[in-house]
Order: sequence, then C-alpha cells, then structure tokens
Amino acid sequence: MTEKITMKADAKHEDAARAARAEKLRRRFPTIAELRRRARWRVPRFAFDFVDGGANDEECARRNATALSAVELLPRYCIDTKDMSTEVELFGRRYAAPFGVAPMGSGGLMWPGAEEYLAREAQRRNIPYILATPANASIERIAEIAPDVFWFQLYRFAANDHAITFDLLRRADAAGAQVLVPTIDSAGKSKRPRDIRSGVKVPFTVGPSIAFQVATSPFWAWALYKTGMLRSENVVPYTAGRATRDSTAEIIMQVRSSGSHTWDELARLRDRWKRAFVVKGVLHPADAERLVSLGVDGIIVSNHGGRHFDGAPASIDILPAIVAAVGSRATVMVDSGIRGGLDIVRALALGAKATFAGRPFLYGLGALGEAGAGHVMDMFFDELRTEFQHVGVRSVAEAAMVTARHPGAWRYEGNQFVSP
Ligand SMILES: Cc1cc2nc3c(=O)[nH]c(=O)nc-3n(C[C@H](O)[C@H](O)[C@H](O)COP(=O)(O)O)c2cc1C
Repeated sequence: MTEKITMKADAKHEDAARAARAEKLRRRFPTIAELRRRARWRVPRFAFDFVDGGANDEECARRNATALSAVELLPRYCIDTKDMSTEVELFGRRYAAPFGVAPMGSGGLMWPGAEEYLAREAQRRNIPYILATPANASIERIAEIAPDVFWFQLYRFAANDHAITFDLLRRADAAGAQVLVPTIDSAGKSKRPRDIRSGVKVPFTVGPSIAFQVATSPFWAWALYKTGMLRSENVVPYTAGRATRDSTAEIIMQVRSSGSHTWDELARLRDRWKRAFVVKGVLHPADAERLVSLGVDGIIVSNHGGRHFDGAPASIDILPAIVAAVGSRATVMVDSGIRGGLDIVRALALGAKATFAGRPFLYGLGALGEAGAGHVMDMFFDELRTEFQHVGVRSVAEAAMVTARHPGAWRYEGNQFVSP
C-alpha cells in the first residue's frame, strides 16, 4: 500500500517536472523558425544542409511555404469551442490529431537517434509515425517503441524481381505496421546542390571539411558517440553479413537507380498487403484515380518537401484537385511545407483528412536533442487547438467546412485542368 502511494507520488512528480520542462521550451523556442536557426548552429553544416536543402534552386521548397501562407481562412465567431476535439479516425483507428511525422531517411544525420526519439514521442501522443525505408532505425525496433502508431514507408528495389521490396513488406507486416506507404515520387536521381557542395555521397568519405564540421559541433558529436554508427538499419539483413555504413548505403542507392514503382508493381504490393495501403507522392488527379482503381485506401499528396523535382506544384495547390477527383473514395492526406497548426487547418479546410510534416521535427531534434521531438509535437498540438478556436470549429470534420480563399489552386474539372 505504502509502495503504491509512493509510486503514484513519483509519477505525479515526474509529470510535473515534464510539464515544467515543456513550459520552459515553449517560452524559449515558440516557433519552428527559431528551432531551425538553433539547429543550424548545433549540427554540422553538411548534415543540416542534407535535411534543410531541396532540389535544384529549391524553388519548390519555397513554393510550398508561400502557397500555404497565401491561403486565407474566414473565421466564424460566437461559437463555444470549449469541448473541441482534435482527434481523427484514419483507417479504423483514432489518432489524437490530424498530423503525423513524415518518413525521413537518414534522420539520424540531423540528430543521431532521431527515429527512436520521434517514434517514442509519437506513440506517447498518439499520432502517426511513418518510418522511412532508408531510416537509421529498423522496422522491428520502431515496432517495439511505437506499436500503435507505426506506419512503414516502402521504396522500390528493382533487382531480383523486387526481392528486397517484398521482404521489407513481409517484415513490416510481421512487425504489425498499421499502414504500408509506398512512395512513388522518386522517379530519378535528384540534384541537391548543397549536398554536392558538402561532398555528401556514397561511399561516404570524411574529408577535412566534414571532419572540421563535426569537431566544431560538440553536442552532435557526443550524440553520435552515444548512438554509434549511422547506417540504414532496414537493409542490414541484405548485406550478407557485411553491415557497414557504406554497404547499407550502397543498397539504399539502388532506390535512386530503381525509379518509381510501376502500376503493375503497385498492384502486386496491394495484393500482398492486407492492412491499409497508402501511396505517397501523388500530384496528378489522374494518377490518384488510377490508384483508387487499384484499391488503395489513401493517398498522400506530396512533392517530397521539394527535395526531388523542383518544377512540381506546391502540394497544397494541387490538393483540392485530388480531393475533387477521389476524396469520396480514398483518404486524402497532404505534406510538404506544413509548419504548424495554422497550416494544418488550411489543409483540412481544403479537403485533406490529415497532414504530415518532415523537417520541423528534425529541426526540433537538431536544436534541442531528444527533447526537441516532443517539443515540436506539443507546439503543433497547441497551435492546432488555438487555430480551431480562431476559425470557430470543434472538430476535424468542422474544420473541413471552413471557408478558404486559395489563389494558387489548380482547377481540375471534368477530368481536365482549366486555366484560372
Ligand atoms: C531528410 C529527409 C529525408 C526524407 N526521406 C524520405 C524517404 O526516405 N522517403 C519518403 O517517402 N520521403 C522522404 N522525405 C520526404 C518527407 O517524407 C516529406 O514528404 C517532406 O519532408 C515533407 O516536407 P516538409 O519537410 O516541408 O514537411 C524526406 C524528407 C527529408 C527532409
């Protein structure tokens, strides 16, 4: 009995200490922009640039931000929002909010251990966490940490009749991933000038410049020392017992030369995967239509955060066209450029059922280490609740009814695009 009372008191004390730490972070780092600035200072330049950068002139990455900020929402007042809920149901499961962590390969470059920290905090808050194929943590490890909220993103490895791809699918199934997320927007190699300049390539060589950057980033170097080598953990079983950073990276490089999953392959994957199947990287409503006819459950409208094709439209600008084409037959979600609660409400108002963000979570980790993961999630939650109050809605369903003015929207009517 006394033991029980002591344990309760300890838990209360821990909760209070956690809340105090969270409040301190809220005051010191109230925006993603501040976290990004601090991450830039704490993380070796080559690693920060790998995460922060985009393809070519980085126009698409900028377009995502400007297109989102151009969307205006018309608030309704005199509504009691006291009993609001940010919950959303996705594929038969209730999550606490309509946002989740997008899949990011080599997240450990921004902060060693990134995947585990993000998965743990996502599980704690009940939001989706998508593990990337080229992540620095394995399917099996993330399934242990985040059994209820773990989705798996799948890349294409064309060699040997897709043996690696199908084995990854098998492992994700065995580990209990809720949703399989094949990504289709990696059709070719991407040109990222920042990475070319930094010398980030496979095999990875630590030249004098990178060595200097690591030596002058002591917090990051210490985190790496504690975590150990960064490698693509998901492909370790395919290295014939030679699992080094370079051998795993070489396998991951096959993704770049493999291109995007073809329609036939998607049909095979759909056939083998019995739980929810969501295709990521969709930009054309006609592709969305075809995916629905293949039997997908959902679609993530995405331009990969501007990391692949610099000529792509902002995801938010193409979202309404895809919702109009398939929104009643599949769950349409969106990512690219989402930076907080206001962007989430914008996306919901334009027809998305849920949203994902990538870089903001890594900025949090780069800036604050482990504590950054929960801090960014809390910031998104706080902002979302505040913006619900501002526009006068009490649920995700009501947010979908908010009136929006969307100057950049692509108009798609009767199976074709029309000029604005
Ligand atoms: C460092 C990094 C690595 C990424 N790796 C992958 C990946 O392996 N697979 C994938 O489908 N998307 C990947 N993405 C794209 C994200 O899933 C997501 O589409 C994008 O980050 C959203 O844009 P945002 O960063 O502006 O939020 C990556 C993004 C970043 C920043």
